[in-house]
Amino acid sequence: MKKKYKLIKSFKDLPFREWINDKIEVYVFENNGKIKAINGICPHYYGEIELDKRNEELKCNFHHMKICPKTLISNNKKFKKIEEFKIISSAPIVIEA
Ligand code: FES
Repeated sequence: MKKKYKLIKSFKDLPFREWINDKIEVYVFENNGKIKAINGICPHYYGEIELDKRNEELKCNFHHMKICPKTLISNNKKFKKIEEFKIISSAPIVIEA
């Protein structure tokens, strides 16, 4: 069952990372006017996922897996889609994970 988690940071801090319950590192970012909250840890080998400098692509810092920020689908066949958390409130930001 999913729980609701209130994040400390806000949309003015975008993009940002925040741990919830020392278990999930949430990465919150904006792309083309849409705010998304994803699991910021790569499913391949736990690298950090973040937007590139031009805000056009999500990338893993370890082995450079690329992820479309719109669809969250990666270029790695084994780890097709990155986990996304539903944002259920914006001020404060509350996600469901
Ligand atoms: S840890 Fe992310 S691609 Fe390997």
